[in-house]
Amino acid sequence: MFNVAILTMSDKGARGEREDLAAGVISDLVRQQGWSVQDYRVISDDYEGIKAALTEMVDQGKHDLLVTTGGTGFGPRDNTPEATKAVIEREVPGLAEAMRLESLKKTNRAMLSRAMAGIRGRTLIVNLPGSPKGVKECLEAIMPALPHGLEILTGRAAECGTNV
Ligand code: MTE
Repeated sequence: MFNVAILTMSDKGARGEREDLAAGVISDLVRQQGWSVQDYRVISDDYEGIKAALTEMVDQGKHDLLVTTGGTGFGPRDNTPEATKAVIEREVPGLAEAMRLESLKKTNRAMLSRAMAGIRGRTLIVNLPGSPKGVKECLEAIMPALPHGLEILTGRAAECGTNV
């Protein structure tokens, strides 16, 4: 059982002008794993605001995994990867690579994703795209490896030696 937080970046969502369907998809997939969603916030695409929210949520020390959705594209207000990069201590490029690899089998637009993943303290932060479809495809791509990564990160498993 891991504790998960969801952070949605959307100017429209933060103003209450768009229903956040992507967060619901994340929540469903996380609960299917038997994990629990402990925090959920919708904020604007403001760079400083994203940095502050990521830092505050991680530094509570309660969440093993913080999943973000939105703000990873080319738009002038797409600031999620930069804010994530500013707060992580260790990058985990393989997660973003795996998401793009699997997503490219579905849409060539996956190469437009600038999503990042990395570790701050004992929390893994993963950026997902903003669309519910993209969220599902990306989270399903990395889900098989996440439990082991989170076990190591949180000290519940000591070594990676087993071949699986
Ligand atoms: N990844 C998957 N698996 N499926 C998708 O439909 N959409 C892409 C990409 N990644 C997509 C995807 C598109 S169109 C964009 S612009 C980028 O994610 C960034 O999306 P965002 O700005 O909503 O975060």
